[in-house]
Amino acid sequence: MSRSAKILLIDDDPGIRETLRRVLVEEGHSVALEQRGDHGLARASKEAFNLIITDLRMPGLNGLELVRRLHAAQPRLPIILVTAFGTTETAIEAMKYGAYDYLLKPFEVPQLLELVRKAADSNRLMSEPVVLGNTGAARDALVGKSAAMQSIYKEVGRVASKPVNVLIRGETGTGKELVARAIYHHSDRADAAFVAINCAAIPETLLESELFGHERGAFTGAEERRIGRFEQADRGTIFLDEIGDMTLGTQVKLMRVLQEKCLQRLGGKETISVNVRVLAATHHDLEGAIAQRRFREDLYYRLSVVVITLPPLRQRREDIPELVRYFLQKHGPDLGNPRPSIHPEAMQFLQNQHWPGNVRELENVIRKAILLAQSYTINADHVQTALNRSAEPSADAPSAFGEYVDELLAAAQRGDLQNAHARILDTAEREVFARAIKQAQGNQAKAARWLGVSRVTMKAKLTQFGLHPAQEEQ
Ligand SMILES: Nc1ncnc2c1ncn2[C@@H]1O[C@H](COP(=O)(O)OP(=O)(O)OP(=O)(O)O)[C@@H](O)[C@H]1O
Ligand SMILES: [Mg+2]
Repeated sequence: MSRSAKILLIDDDPGIRETLRRVLVEEGHSVALEQRGDHGLARASKEAFNLIITDLRMPGLNGLELVRRLHAAQPRLPIILVTAFGTTETAIEAMKYGAYDYLLKPFEVPQLLELVRKAADSNRLMSEPVVLGNTGAARDALVGKSAAMQSIYKEVGRVASKPVNVLIRGETGTGKELVARAIYHHSDRADAAFVAINCAAIPETLLESELFGHERGAFTGAEERRIGRFEQADRGTIFLDEIGDMTLGTQVKLMRVLQEKCLQRLGGKETISVNVRVLAATHHDLEGAIAQRRFREDLYYRLSVVVITLPPLRQRREDIPELVRYFLQKHGPDLGNPRPSIHPEAMQFLQNQHWPGNVRELENVIRKAILLAQSYTINADHVQTALNRSAEPSADAPSAFGEYVDELLAAAQRGDLQNAHARILDTAEREVFARAIKQAQGNQAKAARWLGVSRVTMKAKLTQFGLHPAQEEQ
């Protein structure tokens, strides 16, 4: 999901200014223009922007000086430097002064847009604080008053300002990234960079260069020197997401940086010292990976000075109503319903689900339900449909079921879903009870007898699956 950003574009070339402006506006961003470096600096000090894109050579003040001054005043504001070939050394200097990244002319539009997206995201991550246990006006909050979440908030508060690395564990969708950001926002490094890297999303061959940088000619395709994210995050915080997916080779290098607090760029000789706090997250069973020699034990101990383990949603069902209300508020306005409401039955149904995809899955279901209900109150049908389990058994159920299994397996292979087994059995079970109660025309005793379950079980399952029979049992 790409969000729109407020961008200040500083360039003395009217042609480039106009082209860039058009491309960015088409992408949904709003763009302010300046033609001189000094004017750009003045404007950025007066107005709030999410991102600055600046040329290097300009009248008034050059790009390098602009980066130095602006970064000192607003360390969270990302600055992208656009520069011609031949000035890359200066662009690299600019990165040391705190520029977010640079782009070499001539560049391709998608390349620019991707960089803008990353930089704007980084600005959002750094500047939108994660509020703990509060459903107030905050855009991002960790919601839930259960005892389990209370102790998470305490832990976050306790470790945030300590100079220790933190390992955040938990099933997919439990809020690991939110916790990492909350730690950052509550730490004494909150004014310095927060650099997030998803180790699973970057191809193995590129990850090392992304993390540690490289010198020109370090490998085929390394045409220019590149500053790595560790160097960029100096004095700040780096978030290594999906650390369990890091290869052993990269683990060795990471271990060295953690131990010696310095690094060498790929293909480089210079030793660069860095002061970076590492937050890491994983949904993998790291102990198992250590046993199979896929994860280094020494690295594990370095990273896990403090471990925060997020509980799965099904173990804190009492938080579901508050989460639902929070997501209704958060997404309603964007989805065309500024004040969505939900029927108590639908709420009950949501509270009874298994939620293998945890809070992320719940959030998605709420978004879908808002759309399905349009401007009406969300009812049990809406949430059931949103959960992708139609209440009406379909005629070709066996093949539909096969397709459903395939779909879930594909999601599991993409890493979007853990616990496919539980989800599939859950769906199958629901189908069994839905058909039985339908054929028994709502007679629970009959349906229970056919299925060979007790009437207590029957009743519990009907509630769990939201199958509210039209007719009460006789
Ligand atoms: N306690 C919570 N309160 C409010 N929103 C939450 C909470 N936990 C998670 N979310 C929301 O759920 C979604 C998933 O959270 P997040 O990305 O932090 O999970 P994750 O544990 O990093 O998942 P994955 O392992 O799949 O990367 C996000 O949109 C996040 O805002
Ligand atoms: Mg995550």
